[in-house]
Amino acid sequence: MQQSPQDTRQIEALLDFYLDSGVDCFLGDEPVDWYELTVRQAAQRRQAQASPTQQHAQNSVRAASSAGPARDRPPARVGNQTPQPAMMPINTGPAAVVPDGEIVASARDLASSAKSLDELRACLDTFDGCNLKLTAKKLVFSDGNPAAKLMFVGEAPGRDEDLQGKPFVGRSGQLLDRMLEAIGLDRSSAYIANVVPWRPPGNRTPTPQETEICKPFISRQIELVNPDVLVFLGAASAKTLLGVQDGIRKMRGRWMTYPVQGREIAAIATYHPAYLLRSPLEKRLSWRDFLSIRAKLADN
Ligand code: URA
Repeated sequence: MQQSPQDTRQIEALLDFYLDSGVDCFLGDEPVDWYELTVRQAAQRRQAQASPTQQHAQNSVRAASSAGPARDRPPARVGNQTPQPAMMPINTGPAAVVPDGEIVASARDLASSAKSLDELRACLDTFDGCNLKLTAKKLVFSDGNPAAKLMFVGEAPGRDEDLQGKPFVGRSGQLLDRMLEAIGLDRSSAYIANVVPWRPPGNRTPTPQETEICKPFISRQIELVNPDVLVFLGAASAKTLLGVQDGIRKMRGRWMTYPVQGREIAAIATYHPAYLLRSPLEKRLSWRDFLSIRAKLADN
């Protein structure tokens, strides 16, 4: 039976509803033991590393994982083994990966190979190690001026950012623009990015694994932009990149340093604009932070 365009639109609307509600995987009829799957994949990798022919096969899997969108590829095969049902629980969809140390290492290698921001964006376009890419509509790489002295780093894109492919374009982005304007700046004098460049479904918090996988890319982005002043919007990005454990109340407004290739960049954390939208009284403290940022830029 042929599907009418109206059926297709209804199905798409339903899928969009699921995505917006935070659904990020399909459930099959059979339960999946993810722990067992992780252990089995690790064993397969060890086995593949042990023999040269299987090493070759493993390289093919790696190459496949950076050869275009996962949604266009069949599930990976390791050596001569056909994937067992548990390895492809979602037989209608893209190949989701089980995050592990090897994926973080491949993210690190890929990110450090990028010699420019354009190359880094291209690396992210080919990288299939983060499952958020499977549900996001667009890569949200950056906005603003790559030659700016000032760089902002947020946590992860939301719905509007995902639709436009640019960070901080929704309500919190509009507030950020007004805060910049208040100290005489705009997006032509700042560069803006996020730790995680794909929207987590339903705007949930990125998992520690997703953050760890994306971290090499934002670290390289900071290196390539090499700003004089780095501003972390909210505690999450500061914790990820500075390794500090304090909450935002304690951390904000305090100048710290972020080491980049033998240089120390002045770094500060301030409230996330989304938090300020919920707690407008805290704008007083953000105003102080922005004045301090303006003074630091003038010193540099
Ligand atoms: N919040 C973020 O942390 N980043 C965005 O790009 C938008 C909202």
